[in-house]
Amino acid sequence: MLQVKDVVKRFRSGGEDVNAVDGVTFEVPAATFASIVGSSGSGKSTLLSLMGALDAPTSGSIHLAGTEITALRPREQVAYRRARIGFVFQQYNLVPNLTAVENVMLPLEFAGVKAGERRGRATELLKMVGLSGQKLDRLPGKLSGGEQQRVSIARSLANEPELILADEPTGNLDSRNGKRIVTLLRDLVVARGTTVVVVTHDRGVAAKADMTFSMRDGKIVHTRMKGS
Ligand SMILES: Nc1ncnc2c1ncn2[C@@H]1O[C@H](COP(=O)(O)OP(=O)(O)O)[C@@H](O)[C@H]1O
Ligand SMILES: [Mg+2]
Repeated sequence: MLQVKDVVKRFRSGGEDVNAVDGVTFEVPAATFASIVGSSGSGKSTLLSLMGALDAPTSGSIHLAGTEITALRPREQVAYRRARIGFVFQQYNLVPNLTAVENVMLPLEFAGVKAGERRGRATELLKMVGLSGQKLDRLPGKLSGGEQQRVSIARSLANEPELILADEPTGNLDSRNGKRIVTLLRDLVVARGTTVVVVTHDRGVAAKADMTFSMRDGKIVHTRMKGS
């Protein structure tokens, strides 16, 4: 269970205070595929970075499976992120001079997987997202956008996260590859019981989610449950 309570994030920009996130409260049960929609500037990415302990809120609290992540010290936040959260970004953020399999091996090293086991484990994770054979030894620049996003999802799974946070994961993909990535994220929820929160502009992505939160001006203005 992810619990976000009364969360505010205020930025000072150009001598003016902006509440990028302005009093947000919601819960996402474990093993749920949730989406956050809203126009540009509505606070989606800021909210995601707070849930991922990449940044601290001005006020309010966030709990994940009983841990108050907003009460962690900066060093604990780093450890927490590495151990329990997976990130997927629009730009994939792969290391360009490492092959697909090496990109997935990197977080396995941080997760304490022994050197001799990393390649095999990374290969398994890549197989799970639909990549195998020669593609594993290609550099990201030699893979399509959809394939690069698969690598980034495999990488996000390396630490067996309870929560995957994805910011516009289909933003650079055509609709067919975008659909495949959403189906993949959806399957991970079912197969592994991982909670996935996707920020998206894409109505098709939101339509596949178990719950959808709509943001405007830093606030959640609408919540939709699947089937309602
Ligand atoms: N680091 C920052 N400093 C100042 N303002 C910021 C910062 N990050 C985001 N904002 C502002 O917060 C608001 C929400 O931004 P963001 O969370 O990126 O929205 P979205 O992801 O929905 O497009 C915007 O007005 C943006 O300009
Ligand atoms: Mg954004």
